This record gives sequence, C-alpha cells and structure tokens, in this order.
Amino acid sequence: MTQEPKRINHLGIAVKTLEEGLAVWRDGLGLKVEKLVDMPEKGLRIAFLPCGETMIELLAPLGENSEIQAFLDKRGGGIHHVCLEVADVAAATAQASAHGMQLLGKGATIGAEGLPVRFAHPKSTAGALVEWLEKPGA
Ligand code: CO
Repeated sequence: MTQEPKRINHLGIAVKTLEEGLAVWRDGLGLKVEKLVDMPEKGLRIAFLPCGETMIELLAPLGENSEIQAFLDKRGGGIHHVCLEVADVAAATAQASAHGMQLLGKGATIGAEGLPVRFAHPKSTAGALVEWLEKPGA
C-alpha cells in the first residue's frame, strides 16, 4: 500500500542563533513560541513556532559539533528540511528506499518532538532534505 503523508508537520529553518531567528519569526512575523528544546547530542537548540497546522522549527547550533554547522557554513542559513507527517515511518521510508532514496542512519530515532523520525539524504531527494515524523493516528 502506498504511504501517503498526512501533512507537512514542520519546516526546519537553520539560523546562526536562536535570537536571530526569533527576531524574524516571532517578533517580525508574529508567530508564537510553543516550546524550546536543547538537543546537546546533536548540537542543536530548537524553537517550535506553530503556524496553523504546521510548525516552523528554528534550528540553531549548540556547542562545537552541531549537525547544522556545515549547512550554515555553506548557505548561511535558510530552509533546511521539510518534515512529512506519516502514520508509519518504517513503511514510508521503506517505500522511499525502494524508489532509490538514501536513508540516513540505521532506523528511526526519537526527534525533538519525542516521536520517531528519520531523514533521507538530500543527494537522493533532488536537493531537499526530507524528514519523516511518525504520529499516532496520522
Ligand atoms: Co525537523
């Protein structure tokens, strides 16, 4: 059965500092911060700002070995990934893999939302980093 994503759960946006990102998305664009999450193991400081059914996920580096440092060095910030909400991340990623998409890691991990997530390499997705997020009932 084809796995159809339910919606775009969030857009991940890389920023040099959370302060810089919040000055734009909170103060300038009027979104409200729902929560802040530090993920030291990934070198990330994250802010979630709901925008209707979708979130804006601001990703700022935390410490020396941030997962997004290379992206910031290369592009200076901007849209980093698109997160698709699915009912079954294993089935959705298996389908993507069967169509030649290269999955990152050995399986789903628990993301900043506390739910299973997995990424595909942007080299295999026509340049856009894709994240899947498994949400019960999606
Ligand atoms: Co994300």
